[in-house]
Amino acid sequence: MPGAAARLVLIVTSPLLFSPVTLPAPEGPGLELLNRAIVPPMCQYAVDAEDGVPTDWHLVHTGAMAAGGFGLVTVEATGVEARGRISPRDLGLWDDAQVPAHARLTAFAHTQGAAIAVQLGHAGGKASTYPWLPGASEGTVPAAEGGWPTVSATAQPTLPELDAPAALDAAGLDEVVEAFASAARRADAAGYDAVQIHAAHGYLLHQFLSPITNTRTDGYGGDEAGRTRLLLRVVDAVRAAWSAHKPLGIRLSATDWTEGEDGTVWDARATARLARTLVDEHGVGWIDVSSGGLAGGRIPVGPGYQVPLAQAVTEALACTQAVVSAVGLIEEAAQAETILATGQAHAVSIGRAALRDPHWAASAASTLGVQAKAIHAAPQYWRARF
Ligand SMILES: Cc1cc2nc3c(=O)[nH]c(=O)nc-3n(C[C@H](O)[C@H](O)[C@H](O)COP(=O)(O)O)c2cc1C
Repeated sequence: MPGAAARLVLIVTSPLLFSPVTLPAPEGPGLELLNRAIVPPMCQYAVDAEDGVPTDWHLVHTGAMAAGGFGLVTVEATGVEARGRISPRDLGLWDDAQVPAHARLTAFAHTQGAAIAVQLGHAGGKASTYPWLPGASEGTVPAAEGGWPTVSATAQPTLPELDAPAALDAAGLDEVVEAFASAARRADAAGYDAVQIHAAHGYLLHQFLSPITNTRTDGYGGDEAGRTRLLLRVVDAVRAAWSAHKPLGIRLSATDWTEGEDGTVWDARATARLARTLVDEHGVGWIDVSSGGLAGGRIPVGPGYQVPLAQAVTEALACTQAVVSAVGLIEEAAQAETILATGQAHAVSIGRAALRDPHWAASAASTLGVQAKAIHAAPQYWRARF
């Protein structure tokens, strides 16, 4: 049985979590991440001037996690248009003036050996809401408090407590597509290694994907081909604007956990079909699998609750080079390692656990028997004995 013993040693000494993984790009070798622990985007509501420009807080927040050993840090939902921000205190990339402060974030992450991505988003009918901070009000921020009119797939409120948006017409859809492409160009100029398009959590692109919110009767509604049309246009425009040597990612809500009025669903099977199309025909190399964000569903929250959704996408993408990351209450090193070792995903996104411990990756390495100095965690902290 020497073979079995050797395999056992390999498993113990070479955790998959700390093995490299490559996010493929259409040209060149793609982006090699030094490990498979990813920080997902997390809004900080820290833009005090409400101008979309990253602040010192963003540098400290992303910088700590880059120093903490994560292979990839994803910057929070960043508005491609001012009216696409979730709250007035969100980041943006709709203006060239925002680029230098983003470049500060990428430059520091790179000094730490981490890759850094930005999530490009448009909140649609869920824009202009209050920052999700202690004591925050609910609902749409009125103009008197710095809010703005919102847009969506239809004129129905995206959530019951929100103001009614305007339904996007053909010209409005073109503007959204162009805004994503321009923001991707700025992300490239800022030095980001990857872009993640936000098509999850009930925001604009998900408002079009889901039969709950998309009851349009034109070519952007109806069947799956219609409901995915805007997303595919956005992906193509971003892919064309974004460096062909850099990977393009996307975050999807893989299920609404409920159904539309006519029984139509947005679920793991629809998501898997879309994922395959995105990878095979639209140059997407990384899919982060989340869920929910629209009204009506009950989410079975618990450890690793979205991992089966990631597994469905991973299976749909077998025999491709695309990387699938799982997210949602993945908090323990052994749990993360098991998800990878059982092939349910190729990488893991660690959200709130990384807020609690920005050095989660360095700690996890230690737990799994990898010395911190063997990963790119900050050498200044080695003596803390991760
Ligand atoms: C403070 C905070 C802000 C978040 N902001 C975003 C965001 O900007 N974009 C996004 O796609 N998800 C956002 N999320 C969701 C996280 O990326 C993640 O999917 C979620 O927290 C579940 O993962 P976890 O259990 O590891 O925290 C946010 C979560 C938190 C806690």
